Amino acid sequence: MKSESQVIVRPARNVRGSVSLPGDKSISHRYAMLAAIADGPSRLENYSTGADCASTLVCLRSLGVKWERKDSADNVIEVQGSGLSLTAPSQPLDCGNSGSTIRMLSGIVAGQNFASEMAGDESLSRRPMERVITPLTAMGAQIASENGRPPLRIAGAKLKSIHYRMPVASAQVKTCLLFAGLLADGETRIEEPLRTRDHGEVALRAFGVDIERKGNEVRIRGGQRLRGIAARVPGDLSSAAFFLCAAALFPNSQLTITRLLMNPTRARLLDLLMQMGLRISVTQIEEVHGELFGTLQVEGGRLKGATIAGADTAALIDEIPVLAAIAPYTEQGLEFRDAKELRVKESDRIASIATNLRAMGAQVEEREDGLKIPGGQSLRGTELESFGDHRIAMAFSIAALRAQGETLIRGSESVAISYPAFFSVLEELTER
Ligand code: S3P
Repeated sequence: MKSESQVIVRPARNVRGSVSLPGDKSISHRYAMLAAIADGPSRLENYSTGADCASTLVCLRSLGVKWERKDSADNVIEVQGSGLSLTAPSQPLDCGNSGSTIRMLSGIVAGQNFASEMAGDESLSRRPMERVITPLTAMGAQIASENGRPPLRIAGAKLKSIHYRMPVASAQVKTCLLFAGLLADGETRIEEPLRTRDHGEVALRAFGVDIERKGNEVRIRGGQRLRGIAARVPGDLSSAAFFLCAAALFPNSQLTITRLLMNPTRARLLDLLMQMGLRISVTQIEEVHGELFGTLQVEGGRLKGATIAGADTAALIDEIPVLAAIAPYTEQGLEFRDAKELRVKESDRIASIATNLRAMGAQVEEREDGLKIPGGQSLRGTELESFGDHRIAMAFSIAALRAQGETLIRGSESVAISYPAFFSVLEELTER
């Protein structure tokens, strides 16, 4: 049994200060996996400090990949590439809580000439995997699972290319299939129902892979070799979302976030927060291996409502918990539609959000595929659960900043999945 911790969050008056975030989780996973199958060494600066990206590194070590932590202050990881062929693991690959690890890495292990088992914690063991099992099986892999859930037992195979139309918009699945396509014969084509984050494509190009996009379709030729890279991972935008939403709660907030990820397929949050009333300016834009970085200056203002649906929901999927947590404080409220995917994240996030908002005294309409949260409400501090979900723990710490009285969050250790230093940084940025 894992030990559970709790934190108490007190109401704040304001958010002020400057912060730089550990590396983006999505990019860190992809860089580590591609560095592992590249020729030669790679150096990754500002690698994510979260337990999820550490799970990827642990799995890679079990697959014979050599890597080392170099400078712990800047979280530098050096990876010695193994080339496209990895080594058979002597034990199951432990993916921990990480959906990204199991789904994306399955594309690489499916193309190896050995069998692997991929497993994870209780939450991961409930998450749907048929979205990768179906297309990888069509490519020639043999995969056994527990009714479409982990553990996955993957018999590696010589993969065949496919032309696959993804039924669910998922960047993890797209990336898994691009990785498998790299190990397959011929050209693999993947069509997504709508554009999802493109870090997989950008990272593949950074490692020297030729990859083509036509509308919503990406194409990759198998057998291409990768070259190791020296790269810096931009600050995690989905972690920054918590501080941005905290700043949005107070009209006098002044927040600077340096070297933050600005990739247009992830930055919808910035447009939305500006539309809601936050003032944001971006300076010092730089590009490293195709990923954009920028420094954000943020000032609070009024906080208007919004409706988030369709492609916007997909683009904001990891930011919805914190947006929902501040929704009662907006003038007109927030409505989230087309968000069924939230039910199969680290927790059933629609249910977790509704339960916690109600516990704080808010009115919430919970729907099968979304939430409607009226604005102009005040919340009261109380005892809340994280439901073992890092983004729920962080989202409700932000709601707590404007509640009446203190809020206790149980299972607060879950923040370590993506952002171990979250509570100490939040403490530094808030004025009381
Ligand atoms: C991710 C994609 C999203 C997101 C997850 C990270 C990625 O999941 O929720 O946190 O890095 O590709 P889906 O691919 O399931 O939408």
